[in-house]
Amino acid sequence: MEERRENWGSKLGLILAMAGNAVGLGNFWRYPYQAAKNGGGAFMIPYFAALIMLGIPLMLVEWNQGRYGGKYGHGTLGPMVYLQAREGVKPKTAAILGAIAGMFAFSVTVLLNSYYNHIIGWTLGYSYMSATGQYMDKSIKTGEFFGQYLTSPGRSLIFWIIAVAILGIAVMRGVQKGIEAWAKVMMPTIYVFGIILIIRTLTLSAPVRPDWTPIAGLDYIWSPKWNELNAKSALAAAGQIFFTLSLGMGIIQNYASYLKPDDDIVVSGLATVSLNELAEVILGGTIAIPICYAFLGPEGLSAGVGLSFVALPNIFRTMAGGRVFGTLWFLLLYFAGFTSAIAMYNYLVALLEEEMGVKRQIGSVLVFILYIVIGLPVALEPILTKKAELFYLTELDNWVGSYFLVVLGLLEVIVTGWLMGTKALDEMNRGSYWKVPNWFFNLFVRVLAPVYIIILLVSSTINYAKEGYFKLVPGFAESVPELIPWVQGARVVLLVVLVIGFVQSYRSIRRKYAEEIEAGKVIVVR
Ligand code: TRP
Ligand code: TRP
Repeated sequence: MEERRENWGSKLGLILAMAGNAVGLGNFWRYPYQAAKNGGGAFMIPYFAALIMLGIPLMLVEWNQGRYGGKYGHGTLGPMVYLQAREGVKPKTAAILGAIAGMFAFSVTVLLNSYYNHIIGWTLGYSYMSATGQYMDKSIKTGEFFGQYLTSPGRSLIFWIIAVAILGIAVMRGVQKGIEAWAKVMMPTIYVFGIILIIRTLTLSAPVRPDWTPIAGLDYIWSPKWNELNAKSALAAAGQIFFTLSLGMGIIQNYASYLKPDDDIVVSGLATVSLNELAEVILGGTIAIPICYAFLGPEGLSAGVGLSFVALPNIFRTMAGGRVFGTLWFLLLYFAGFTSAIAMYNYLVALLEEEMGVKRQIGSVLVFILYIVIGLPVALEPILTKKAELFYLTELDNWVGSYFLVVLGLLEVIVTGWLMGTKALDEMNRGSYWKVPNWFFNLFVRVLAPVYIIILLVSSTINYAKEGYFKLVPGFAESVPELIPWVQGARVVLLVVLVIGFVQSYRSIRRKYAEEIEAGKVIVVR
């Protein structure tokens, strides 16, 4: 069954698609408050340390795994990790490692995207509501407005379904005509909108109080607060690097699997990282925070969901041209979210194609149904309980959106750095414009990245225990007992998805490599 796999149409298209994969809500929404909360300018030190010691090595590892797997006809992580692991351990052990990796990638692409799709739906809904001026009426607080948006069974459902459907339509058309074509339009638009918003932000002068200027806002978050620099901020920085670069999710590998075996990966991988960091540090760091500061002062820099969906709408309703700039902001978020979520969507379509020979068109419809079914509890929780809380989402995010990424990342560097070893370095450098030097591979890929990740994992685990995430009723849910069933429901879903992911990945490895697993030696080579 040598079905031909699709390839990227052009280098530019590939890089924009990969950058689209990485540039997401994380850049514009998560990053600013992570920085603000963890030392401001001082956050840049653990952040860039993590970028260099962990982000770049892992990015190269993932491109390498993807291109290598693609050569054997795979777009999913189980067989990819198997193929590299079998270079260093017995095929049987390699198959188990592959199945574990496949399990995590499956659970991330199914579950993380199932709630990310909702946030994308909110950004689409808020784009529409900004353009039509729906939250401009000052008689209701924007926080209440957002609460109503979540708790009433109307707009939130409609925009979510539209958002998932558009993803499905784009994926249906394939890698070149779908993913690549959309990225080529959306990615440049993100940078253009970002620059327009920066100019608007910096020309705000001081609308509320003379000392609340946007520059003072920049100063406020970027002046280094050295006393806040500690293990926790280092952890936050490393977690942010994982999330923002889309590492430990399996989706960089999936995109890289559509490369030809001799296409460059080193320079392209670095280009992706650079485009992401530009969008994160420059655009993400310059828009939301100074706007909030100018209107709300230092108190206004509240963390999390509130920043985009509560504080900013509150500002757009007072600011001159607020409807236009509000629309630009939420469209920017929508495009950023879209070009990331499409990667997860495509991963599952590729899995169906590869596993069961399901055609792309049909696969896209099946994945649409899957995301609607699995994502439904996220929307139903606030609607049914009439509380603007997202415990189901939060429980999933605590595991899938942060912890699992790190575990999978560790497995990946060990497999490529140690099991495949120097062969992986040769593989990485094949066809590349710049060669990764030996010392970089030995020091960064084999030592620094795994050590960094192990430290991250151990301290995250300790943190999770302290926060009570391992308890029967996790810490964050204790205060609202009515919502505990939603947390437990999330755990059941999580467990079921993990089991399915493991079995599925193991079977997909065996289907092609059973012979060598039995024989205990490598037979299939290409
Ligand atoms: N890198 C993305 C970001 O910064 C994270 C991401 C990529 C993601 N693909 C995703 C998150 C799919 C959720 C679903 O936001
Ligand atoms: N991990 C992201 C963050 O820290 C996403 C997230 C966490 C989130 N909890 C959430 C998104 C609740 C929406 C609602 O922000």
